[in-house]
Amino acid sequence: MNPSATTALYAQRRARLAALIGAKGIAILPTAPEQQRNRDGDFLYRHDSYFYYLSGFTEPKAWLVITGDGKTTLFCQPKDLEREIWDGYRLGPDAAPAQLGVDAAYSIAELDARMPGLLDGRDSVWYPFATHKGLETRMDGWLGSVRARVRFGALCPEQQRDLCGPLDEMRLIKDVHEQAVMRRAAQISAGAHIRAMQLSARMLRDGNEVREYHLDAELLHEFRRHGSQYPAYGSIVAAGANACVLHYRADTAPVRDGELVLIDAGCELDGYASDITRTFPANGKFTGPQRALYELVLASQEAAVAATRAGARFTDPHDASVKVLAQGMLDLGLLDRNKVGTLEDVIEKRAYFQFYMHRTGHWLGMDVHDCGGYVEPSEIGRVSERKDPLSGEVIRDRPSRILRAGMVLTIEPGIYVRPAEGVPEQFHDIGIRIEDDAIVTETGCELISRGVPVEADAIEALMRG
Ligand code: GLY
Ligand code: MN
Ligand code: MN
Repeated sequence: MNPSATTALYAQRRARLAALIGAKGIAILPTAPEQQRNRDGDFLYRHDSYFYYLSGFTEPKAWLVITGDGKTTLFCQPKDLEREIWDGYRLGPDAAPAQLGVDAAYSIAELDARMPGLLDGRDSVWYPFATHKGLETRMDGWLGSVRARVRFGALCPEQQRDLCGPLDEMRLIKDVHEQAVMRRAAQISAGAHIRAMQLSARMLRDGNEVREYHLDAELLHEFRRHGSQYPAYGSIVAAGANACVLHYRADTAPVRDGELVLIDAGCELDGYASDITRTFPANGKFTGPQRALYELVLASQEAAVAATRAGARFTDPHDASVKVLAQGMLDLGLLDRNKVGTLEDVIEKRAYFQFYMHRTGHWLGMDVHDCGGYVEPSEIGRVSERKDPLSGEVIRDRPSRILRAGMVLTIEPGIYVRPAEGVPEQFHDIGIRIEDDAIVTETGCELISRGVPVEADAIEALMRG
């Protein structure tokens, strides 16, 4: 997209937000702070997702102020040649209106002085609750300054509202531009998974020692080679039994011939995440027990994909996966029918939880676990209570979100077999997850991450090459 087209896109989003906060509303939004890593060193800077969604601006130390009449004011770092020699280019307030399409821009140094004036006469102030440390305190200070001038005719906003509410709803439906970036991010990540699979088989074939970090390096190279700024989250490269640790990170463990490798990794491209998991035999050939479990997880993912369409509930893919997985656990002897009963019993009592303990998906977007409510807004008052069969806890359920075209979610069933009494030994220490990224459509969903295959035969074929 050319720069003026993207500028218009952000302006349209700000206009939509302005309409949502009301003519007398004001929205105040900082970008993310810089984070120190250790002495003299910061973590690589990542902007705030809400801020970027409304501005396309990636510099630190910046704030947006949007008023209900549709006007946007940006506060940003001033031009400073000396600092720019050390830290790099700054856009600066003079160039910002033309570049970003905002109505006015000032130096960040003027934020405290100008904010009371911007707040005066507004009826409600919207800012993101519980997301930026110290923001509430700063807001109190600015509101206090307006209140101190009430007897001179100032009008202090009477309502404080959570800006995350309207922004989460907006971000939940991805527009055409966002979908295009996400397709590209997923395509890059798919290529990285293919490279990691092929490297593993090739190194083992050549008699080399393979470590998890070799595969991690391959992923990173492919991400960066295509312009991805960074991984969207800490990559999981888990060899053998490590795959049963859900939040394992790529580490130093050996990748052994005959074992599976689980890779959960996706790049972030231009502010958007991808999130793909593939599980493959390190040497390129599934053993019998590995393939049996793999086919089961794949069948459960297919059931979840078939349940993903506009009009379905967010929980429908999960329920479809669980049904297939639970039946498979009974058929393969992971669960003993004599102990756990029928399929219905396994589902009702959550006996499958021993081997499948996470949900089948989450929203995906700028954040890998993206924002957006999981409860259907039109049915928020319909609360029911039930007792969890495993913990005994009383759970308050609300109707799950109804999927709409343009929502993006992951579909990621898995199975994780830790050694335990009664669990067939041939399955011990096998961990498998298959994760794809889906754009919901009216009739189904578009899987944007299938540039890397999922069928066992297709994986074996590409690892032979
Ligand atoms: N990679 C994070 C997740 O799958 O949720
Ligand atoms: Mn995921
Ligand atoms: Mn993942």
